[in-house]
Amino acid sequence: MTLIFEKLRKQYGSHVAIDDVSTRFEPGLIHGIIGPNGAGKSTLINMTAGSYIVSGGEISLDSKVLSGLKKYQIANAGVARTYQNIRLFDQMTVLENLEVCFYPSQIGQVWGEIFWPPFAQKRLRMRREVCMELLSFFDLQHHADAEAGSLPYGRQRMLEIARALVMNPRVLLLDEPAAGLNHHETAELTARLATLRSPDRIVIVVEHDMDLVMSVCDRIVVMHHGKLLFQGTPAEVQASSDVQLAYLGTGNDIDDIKTAAQNRRAQLGIRTRRRS
Ligand SMILES: Nc1ncnc2c1ncn2[C@@H]1O[C@H](COP(=O)(O)OP(=O)(O)O)[C@@H](O)[C@H]1O
Ligand SMILES: [Mg+2]
Repeated sequence: MTLIFEKLRKQYGSHVAIDDVSTRFEPGLIHGIIGPNGAGKSTLINMTAGSYIVSGGEISLDSKVLSGLKKYQIANAGVARTYQNIRLFDQMTVLENLEVCFYPSQIGQVWGEIFWPPFAQKRLRMRREVCMELLSFFDLQHHADAEAGSLPYGRQRMLEIARALVMNPRVLLLDEPAAGLNHHETAELTARLATLRSPDRIVIVVEHDMDLVMSVCDRIVVMHHGKLLFQGTPAEVQASSDVQLAYLGTGNDIDDIKTAAQNRRAQLGIRTRRRS
């Protein structure tokens, strides 16, 4: 199973937001996509999930072409996502937010649920079990009956990720999951993300928090002005002068990368080499 972008392109009117991007994402790894604001990161997520139509090129999973399919067909192919701005069903309970996403994946299950009450009951119990398990994993089990909109912001972010996991997706797309989280919540998220690495799943995280990216991601794609500027391991990204140049003049992001790199080296017990 590999998710492949082949010469991907997206234009909004005359504005080229994604220009000739080719890359691959493998299962068992956590992939990061980074880049300054407006680089095209969300556009990549939106095209993969089918929210935006691609203007050129192709997205495929397991040699099945996803680009051109409807959003629900892409979801059925096993692609789930979260949004840069939280999109929960505020007036539903926390548990209901998960349950509505647990839909029958086969036509036989649909008919079974309609015409055979014991089957429907069994499915209902299973649905609840899976959803409660996920809530527990995200430490949300005590909030199961609370309205989603009443949860603190950080908990809502966790609920969004839990909801994306309900159908056990093969591809999980997370668009800035740490946005708006405090330091403690970001640390909690970082630890949880690391446990989502699975041989049956491709995880892609778009993120600004460099500590999170550098500690959790196995491979990183760097986007700049809609183009793929660089890809490699966290260490290769940190060492790339192209990446450093791209971030110059865009605020403090390059300092974040350097600080995260230093933290990571310290964590790993690697001494920083001094230039003579
Ligand atoms: N729906 C849209 N309509 C027009 N332009 C858009 C739309 N979405 C994104 N863009 C433009 O495409 C570029 C990439 O945006 P985006 O993918 O959101 O970047 P990022 O997530 O890296 O900050 C930006 O110049 C942005 O203004
Ligand atoms: Mg974005």
